Amino acid sequence: MKTYNIAVIKGDGIGPEIVNEAIKVLNSVGVVENIKFNYKEYLLGGAAYDAVGDPCPDETIKGCLESDAVLFGSIGGYKWESLPKEKRPESGLLKLRKELGLFANIRPAIIFDELVNASTLKPEIIKGVDLVVVRELTGGIYFGEPRYKDKEKAYNTMIYTREEVERIAHVAFKEAMKRNKKVTSIDKANVLEVSEFWREIVEEIAKEYPEVELNHMYVDNAAMQLIRNPKQFDVILTGNIFGDILSDEASMIVGSIGLLPSASIGGRVGLFEPIHGSAPDIAGEQKANPIATILSAAMMLEYLNELNAAKRIKDAIKKVLALGYRTPDLAEFDAKEVVNTSKMGDLIAKYVKD
Ligand code: NAD
Ligand code: IPM
Ligand code: MN
Repeated sequence: MKTYNIAVIKGDGIGPEIVNEAIKVLNSVGVVENIKFNYKEYLLGGAAYDAVGDPCPDETIKGCLESDAVLFGSIGGYKWESLPKEKRPESGLLKLRKELGLFANIRPAIIFDELVNASTLKPEIIKGVDLVVVRELTGGIYFGEPRYKDKEKAYNTMIYTREEVERIAHVAFKEAMKRNKKVTSIDKANVLEVSEFWREIVEEIAKEYPEVELNHMYVDNAAMQLIRNPKQFDVILTGNIFGDILSDEASMIVGSIGLLPSASIGGRVGLFEPIHGSAPDIAGEQKANPIATILSAAMMLEYLNELNAAKRIKDAIKKVLALGYRTPDLAEFDAKEVVNTSKMGDLIAKYVKD
């Protein structure tokens, strides 16, 4: 039997609800695939601030570094919005990503055939969408110095170094080699020097991957093209803030933000997290869709090279969706039965064994 030590960060809002379902599914697939998971919980975000006054305690960083992989829910909430910036939940998450060296965030948006009628977009536009956003995660305007705010002015700095652009470009081209060999690099090079620089370096790296077709797109056009014709995209390569925005947009192509998983990689240990936040508007109500987190757990299994187990999870999700079970975020379209967070987890945990 294989054993993995998983650092679990439930976080705030819907975080605990959705992570509980992912653990339920992992345990179920562990039984059939002969894998044992040892979970150890750590605090992050508002929960960590409330407990120890720090949104990213050293113990959490250490625990993650000692684990084989990290499973994370979400952080944030109204309660912590007026704290000084360094105490806010979001600062905790950014610090954790930086400390773990997670410079690449892989966000696949793949439509389930069972959900082609569940998007706000027309079925013929979205059927077959299979794209992945490769988002730079530890640089850009999120981390750039100087940054400043007073009553009269405020500023941030959008900065990328050569090394930062090179390494994320390699991730995107390698991803493309496993897929349809097309990279669209998204920037604002018509206005920003940092984007001009990004574009030049991406062009250089592209030479190492002659089989991959590279094109560039301005971010405003990309936001429009994603809705007009999402099937034109294979791998989207972009910086931190554009990737944040475009991946939330991409989630609506596949039906709900509650469906998009992600892998944050690049350091010694990978962290697996849904792309959405803590959804304070529905937290504690068992309304959240746990599939993004369950798919993140499947990405974690792929990272651990447990490919059969990962496939079982994805197949089980398909089966449950084909049977017409939907959480409330997808209910208005073609649900046969609307189920809550926990029931959705139960169903997926049941079908992973088939
Ligand atoms: P959000 O992603 O939390 O929610 C946006 C909307 O989508 C809400 O209406 C919410 O109910 C819905 N939603 C999100 N996840 C869902 C799910 N699994 N199932 C069903 N519906 C879902 O974004 P927001 O409202 O802008 O931010 C709320 C808080 O979350 C803020 O504090 C923000 O900073 C934080 N946040 C955290 C992360 C993270 O932890 N990685 C990501 C984004 C936002
Ligand atoms: C995400 C979130 C975070 C980000 C916030 C909460 C710091 O929106 O994971 O997408 O902007 O990276
Ligand atoms: Mn985001």
